[in-house]
Amino acid sequence: MITQKLDAINDYANAVNVASEILKSGGIVAVPTETVYGLAASAYSDDAIKSVFTAKGRPQDNPLIVHIASIDMLDNIACDIPDMAYECAKAFWPGPFTMVLPKGDKIADSVSAGLDTVAVRFPSDKTICDIILKSGLPLAAPSANTSGRPSPTTASHVIEDLDGKIDAVVCGNDSSVGVESTVVSLVGEKPRLLRPGAVTPEQLRKILPDLIIDDAVLKQLKEGEKVASPGMKYKHYAPKTNAILVEGCSNSFVRYVNQKTDCAAICFEEEYYSISVKKISYGSKRNESTLAKNVFAVLRDIDTLGVKEVYIHAPSKDGVGLAVYNRLIRACGFNVVTL
Ligand code: TXA
Ligand code: MG
Repeated sequence: MITQKLDAINDYANAVNVASEILKSGGIVAVPTETVYGLAASAYSDDAIKSVFTAKGRPQDNPLIVHIASIDMLDNIACDIPDMAYECAKAFWPGPFTMVLPKGDKIADSVSAGLDTVAVRFPSDKTICDIILKSGLPLAAPSANTSGRPSPTTASHVIEDLDGKIDAVVCGNDSSVGVESTVVSLVGEKPRLLRPGAVTPEQLRKILPDLIIDDAVLKQLKEGEKVASPGMKYKHYAPKTNAILVEGCSNSFVRYVNQKTDCAAICFEEEYYSISVKKISYGSKRNESTLAKNVFAVLRDIDTLGVKEVYIHAPSKDGVGLAVYNRLIRACGFNVVTL
């Protein structure tokens, strides 16, 4: 298959029109969103959804998020919607926030991988919203990476993973948030945070004071343990190089990596010039939003460094730092050193 590259920066209207036509005829198209690029398909078409799973090599039991471009569209996606869902929608939509709700009948079963729930998000990115409105379709869209690889925050990341496997890529701006949306389940007894993102637990608790943070956010699940979100159990974001997450202050981190050999450091910009091994900075330790924006691109770069091991300095778990930490601990296969 030849993957069309649609230029949404210089020829926006054409990119939106062509992408919408491909989606209406059952094709699959990678599109920018504010969090990461998504691989979109009509949420009404079982066949199109199956092509998404195939292109990504995604395990069949890992459900997709349905994207909408107005709150009115929610009635076509979910049913028995609780009042707190509308309160969350008012507070966090459009934006990097996903709710798990009881699934409506119109959505293809494969979207939810056989569950009776559905995840839904109204993104703030103009391009994906215009494509949803133009095509008239809710779009199921997982991150547009090969399963297991870091999520794509640029069109070239998408092309690196999926060229020749999908119908088109809408090449737009780099993702401004950089980590995937916050996922909250509203179907259990209490609201539950399944995946941290740019909407933080502090912000969520203003609307959902009973919020529980699922164990899988920071801990490794045991073999066979039941998961609320199937995506949590898979190995994720991992570079091929052996990666280790290091917790500790800047002085200890610098001393630790400087006495190692055949390794590289993923560090904060404050430490960069004190480190004597190969190194990449992913931003200031005081700015979790920058760390979030850079984390996946840096994870993609690790394998180009040609070293045996990489030591990643862990961010604080404050604010969006929790989401960065959650992605890094998976990238490191839960291999953590505390200094
Ligand atoms: O920011 C995002 O959410 C991006 C962009 C493209 O919107 N999408 C994304 O999709 O990250 P994906 O497929 O990579 O991650 C979806 C996550 C997975 O962890 C999946 O298990 C969970 O959402 N999920 C989807 N439907 C669910 C459901 N019905 N119940 C529980 N978890 C669900
Ligand atoms: Mg993903």
